[in-house]
Amino acid sequence: MAAPLHLWRNARLATLAGPQGWGLVDDGALLVRGDQLHWVGPMSDLPGDLNIAAEHDLGGALVTPGLVDCHTHLVYGGQRALEFEARLNGASYEDIARAGGGIRSTMAATRAASSDALFASAAQRARGFMAEGVTTMEIKSGYGLSEPDEARCLAVARRLGRDLPLSVRTTSLGAHALPPEYEGRPDDYIAAVCRWLPAQHAAGLVDAVDAFCDRIGFTPAQTRRVFEAARDLGLPVKLHAEQLSDQQGAQLAAEFGALSCDHLEHLSPTGVQAMARADTVAVLLPGAYYFLRDSTLPPVQALRDAGVPLAVASDHNPGSCPTGSLRLMLNMACTLFRLTPEEALRGATVNAARALGLHDRGALRAGLCADFAVWALGHPSELAYAFGGNPCLRSVAAGVER
Ligand code: NIG
Ligand code: FE
Repeated sequence: MAAPLHLWRNARLATLAGPQGWGLVDDGALLVRGDQLHWVGPMSDLPGDLNIAAEHDLGGALVTPGLVDCHTHLVYGGQRALEFEARLNGASYEDIARAGGGIRSTMAATRAASSDALFASAAQRARGFMAEGVTTMEIKSGYGLSEPDEARCLAVARRLGRDLPLSVRTTSLGAHALPPEYEGRPDDYIAAVCRWLPAQHAAGLVDAVDAFCDRIGFTPAQTRRVFEAARDLGLPVKLHAEQLSDQQGAQLAAEFGALSCDHLEHLSPTGVQAMARADTVAVLLPGAYYFLRDSTLPPVQALRDAGVPLAVASDHNPGSCPTGSLRLMLNMACTLFRLTPEEALRGATVNAARALGLHDRGALRAGLCADFAVWALGHPSELAYAFGGNPCLRSVAAGVER
């Protein structure tokens, strides 16, 4: 028997259903059956003869697709406030990393934490994002940097998706930094990362594979080996590309048909073209740009001109972006990177879903996931306009109010 129909009525919908425009529907309604949107449109067009099991009055509030945070490092131990202080006293992010701090200091705190403690701290962070309308979240490993610890972090991410009303996609990021036991032997470490992947995949822990290709990360040749291992398993790839320098990582990622290239402050025109050809999404991370006080802007206009889809994500992590708000990133994407409010919202919904290889969410349209957020706002441009505070009134994930 079909699941009962729920009617959500008296809303202003920003459906984002077409290729551009807000897709505004005044006096709109949503019909939800199970975890799917069954019908979306103006109340006056609501089909008759329906057996509606329950009605929910949204009081004229704004409804958008549930937000998708397509780049986070949510699972880790400890925090890095002292590193923030060191940077304010003159040390650079790269200096700290080279001296064994940075990602390695979070690695030590992560290895020392139990899986339950990692789950508890990540769940608390996830709940903060969910309270602001996030219904889907990507979570990377990359702070374990050993076979058991990487698997543990991915398993914690999977558990978050099971235990919270949140859809979680996991990404294996063993190639995030060189752990101390492999000091001076980065190629051996990359060989190990490639060896771990089949077991992670067999255990159902991985949806995609990522690497950090940069001066303090791994070389393009090392990244290629990780991508080859992913391809052998049929796993899609994505890349932390051109964050601190141009390594031509975007070209390499495009060669592997990457879902996304993320950061991209130092992306070259050739990299833009390669991404356009491969239909790779550009994930912009304005919070990391802000927190590291970067001064090189990603080439947003060139990406637009080439037709590369733009996404916006939090990059939540303890080192370069300890934020708890994807909505603040929408504001920063506009103020710092000059996205329009519509580009910013598309970037955290439909294009973010695309960056995860998901085509079943990110807009309000019949047949898509019943994921939506209800806001105490009059117009969707206000989502990127105001910063601070939380106008999210309620949210529904997979058809269920959270
Ligand atoms: O996306 N760039 C590499 N990884 C993270 C930061 C990691 C850290 O500093 O802990 C990022 O910015
Ligand atoms: Fe990141």
